[in-house]
Amino acid sequence: MKRCFAALVVLAFWPACSQTQDTVLAHQQKMQWFKDAKLGIFIHWGLYSVDGIDESWSFFNGYISHKDYLKQTKGFTAKKYDPALWAELIVESGAQYSVITAKHHDGFALWDTRFGTLNAAEHASSKKDVLTPFVEKLRDKELKVGIYYSLPDWSYADYTHFTRDSIRYKIEEEPNRWNKFLTYYQGQLKELSDRYNPDLYWFDGDWEHSAEEWEAPKVRKMLLAKNPNTILNSRLKGHGDYETPEQGMPITRPDNPYWELCMTMNDSWGYQKTDLNYKTTDQIIGIFADVIGNGGNLLLDIGPKADGSIPEAQVALMKGLGRWVHKHKEALYGTMAGIPKEHFYGPSTLSKDRRTLYLFVKGNPKGEVVMRGLKNNINRIWVVGQGAKLQHQVMGKVYWSEYPGIKYIKVPEHVLDENMTVLAVLLDGEVDLYREDGAVIESN
Ligand code: GLC
Repeated sequence: MKRCFAALVVLAFWPACSQTQDTVLAHQQKMQWFKDAKLGIFIHWGLYSVDGIDESWSFFNGYISHKDYLKQTKGFTAKKYDPALWAELIVESGAQYSVITAKHHDGFALWDTRFGTLNAAEHASSKKDVLTPFVEKLRDKELKVGIYYSLPDWSYADYTHFTRDSIRYKIEEEPNRWNKFLTYYQGQLKELSDRYNPDLYWFDGDWEHSAEEWEAPKVRKMLLAKNPNTILNSRLKGHGDYETPEQGMPITRPDNPYWELCMTMNDSWGYQKTDLNYKTTDQIIGIFADVIGNGGNLLLDIGPKADGSIPEAQVALMKGLGRWVHKHKEALYGTMAGIPKEHFYGPSTLSKDRRTLYLFVKGNPKGEVVMRGLKNNINRIWVVGQGAKLQHQVMGKVYWSEYPGIKYIKVPEHVLDENMTVLAVLLDGEVDLYREDGAVIESN
């Protein structure tokens, strides 16, 4: 029964496919690597890194003319671009996959597409395809490959939208023109699929048209025909496999078990010299723990410079996060969302067999960590990545009630991690929580 309910929850958020148990299981299997991966690195690299302005939106919103925006092609040199180094850094960060902007809304393609000339090989100082070598290096490192692809292409002469105040045409009035655009964009997607066979497609910009207008079901079918295991994000007008909240960490646990928070390190997706408002390593780790504690993934963004180098502040954050991730990997990869906050005031995850609970402890708990309403007995507690065995005490358990009491775990200062300490709590069985009201005594 439980399994059926879980299946229905998944299906409620997965409208594109027929609702049978088989397809639910196939979907679960296909999504497994993604569920287990927890951390991805998002890369916004494009013309906008030259002047350090908002990706695509700067001309769409009229902060710069389209003509001046395109002049950035001169400064897009990629002369220090080292895709092997990028891939190494991604490994060092602890991420298991990466998603790169093959084409943002401005229409500038990082690969030498046969469709159009606005690309890194033909129309920029880089004079080369910069996507292919990166995909190769990711695969060399056994990282999963995600391709960000913007459905809108505001530079393409036969696309409907150009800037906020000027639309080129309406589809009803010029259907042939729209068909030309469909052939163009679907051609590029086919090209990406044939060349790179991505593990994941990250669509964006679907708000400008309906699913019918984008021909979303046809696109899904085409990509899955090439690779039935490829994953599509939600931004294909309801024809994707997982949700993509942006910037804002969900406060309550999302109902859909498949989700990924995409988030910038500072306030910009692409490289912007003036934006120094970086989150700290502690803050990023804290958000990451909250995300996985609620069953999601974090897709953390970097914005390389126009020469292909990655800004120092971003490298430092990737390394800082990576130190922590590698140390605590047993509590992260392959785990599931943890227990509700009433039982432990912090993020937690659970091993797949639900017998080990991982508690994420921020700062210095000054002696002890508290767990409420845990019915299980605890077999062993240790500090993840550090090894020390910890003691605990059960207080407030009375013989006449099911109420399991409060468990206090003693945490000495010398075992604390500099960013966030993780405790592994091995239970005597699958996690079992007391969720009832307290009982009143009837006899003593
Ligand atoms: C938004 C923006 C875009 C950015 C993306 C990343 O949809 O349009 O600029 O690339 O979010 O999630």
